[in-house]
Amino acid sequence: MQHQRVLVLDFGGQYNQLIARRVRDLKVYCDLKPCDMTAAQVQAYDPVGIIFTGGPNSVYDERAPRVDPAILSLGIPVLGICYGCQLIAHTLGGRVEHAANSEYGKREFSFIARSPLSEGIPEKSVCWMSHTDHVTRVPDRFEVLASTSSCPVTVYGSRAKKIYGVQFHPEVVHSQYGNKLLENFLYLICGAKGDWTMGGFVEEQVASLRQKLGGGCVLCAMSGGVDSAVAATLVHRAVGNALTCVFVDHGLLRKGESEEVMSVFKEKLGMNLIRADAGERFLARLAGVSEPEQKRKIIGEEFIRVFEQEAKKIGAVDFLVQGTIYPDVIESGKDKSAVIKSHHNVGGLPSVVDFKEIVEPLRDLFKDEVRRVGTELGLPDSVVQRQPFPGPGLAIRIMGEVTREKLETLRDADYIFREEVAKAGLAGSIWQYFAVITNSKTVGVQGDFRTYENVIALRAVTSVDAMTADWARIPYDVLETISNRITNEVPHANRIVYDITSKPPATIEWE
Ligand code: XMP
Repeated sequence: MQHQRVLVLDFGGQYNQLIARRVRDLKVYCDLKPCDMTAAQVQAYDPVGIIFTGGPNSVYDERAPRVDPAILSLGIPVLGICYGCQLIAHTLGGRVEHAANSEYGKREFSFIARSPLSEGIPEKSVCWMSHTDHVTRVPDRFEVLASTSSCPVTVYGSRAKKIYGVQFHPEVVHSQYGNKLLENFLYLICGAKGDWTMGGFVEEQVASLRQKLGGGCVLCAMSGGVDSAVAATLVHRAVGNALTCVFVDHGLLRKGESEEVMSVFKEKLGMNLIRADAGERFLARLAGVSEPEQKRKIIGEEFIRVFEQEAKKIGAVDFLVQGTIYPDVIESGKDKSAVIKSHHNVGGLPSVVDFKEIVEPLRDLFKDEVRRVGTELGLPDSVVQRQPFPGPGLAIRIMGEVTREKLETLRDADYIFREEVAKAGLAGSIWQYFAVITNSKTVGVQGDFRTYENVIALRAVTSVDAMTADWARIPYDVLETISNRITNEVPHANRIVYDITSKPPATIEWE
């Protein structure tokens, strides 16, 4: 491996992957490794710098994670963040104490002495704190570099030793110059050259997947979504047609999507892609069902059944590829709070396929990084920039029973909505936008005739993570065009309403 590497030692903090991600964004390769690495192992890894992450413990807890002190004498630059900052002080003979008040949230801090770490950062700025303990005395030959009104040692360090500690979280966006501080550490203190790119990630993943999967039979379930598409394309680049992809087409995708999956992945990329055309099967099972949770359950079960049938035709499988990304990893590690909706994804598949190992090549990446990998692999924007789409598809955008006619009406209305949003140049600023077919019919008049047809609702939201959302302020004239087009071009739709509810209290999807 030719590029420089930074080692991020994981002390169990909640932002650790985010630190790794910031380092990658600054074009430096890094790995997140367990904090119990020995100095010899660190030396063998040969990093240009080491970052100690935050963590939930106090250095005085009996079971608090420690670090091999010899790591601090290797001459390799070290940056300790939060717990990492306290641990360095504690290990090198400084003092850490329980603060009178925990600091949580934004705080103003001031640099009181300059160092390469503060290059280009104003004397006063805002940082993001989240701690109870703090350093009250720095080790010998270290200098206090910054403080807040309640945290006397917010930043400290030693130029000679190239070891620094910051009490706040530079990786969090609320730390105004956090990214600059990390950049300074990497470039001015570690001497990073910035030799790592997304292209590098792809190359490395392809090489390591090739080695790992070589000779095996590999299977992937594709949904048409970004994550499974990028994972499959990456694996395909590594092992070619040793990979078989199964695309369960439940007939509940948006207009043109199923065809697009086949055209991009089978025709253009030449993947060994099997489309299980199961639309009729899903419609039959959904007949007469209008309760949202029951619809979701049926679709989830049926999806697994169809996939199982297709997988059996393939025979023995060595590896099952999943498009798990980092936010999914955190989600699944969390305590389950109240179930609002039973989200459907491909998590149930492992139980129905015999295989040796699961492969998750995107496990460490955030969504926007996954999109960048997709672009790097040559996937079109229509796949890579696709808005989030629920596993149960249009079934949860059709209120009441799912029927062929309602599906058609919804598809056409939704297509016009998407087309006009794109034409108005709004696509990039709206998180999700789609049409819903309500369970209401109203009276209208079209060409002197009375009509009694469906009410179509338009839903468009802005959001950062789908946990909360606001309704998008689409200009009236754009809404007017959409309304005119739908009522003119789509049979069985005579009234259009716009949903002006945020989440909470509503959810993004209607069911
Ligand atoms: P809600 O409707 O709960 O949606 O505000 C939040 C986000 O999740 C998507 N969503 C789903 N995604 N399977 C999925 O993979 C599902 O069953 C599902 N239900 C909702 C929704 O589109 C939004 O982005």
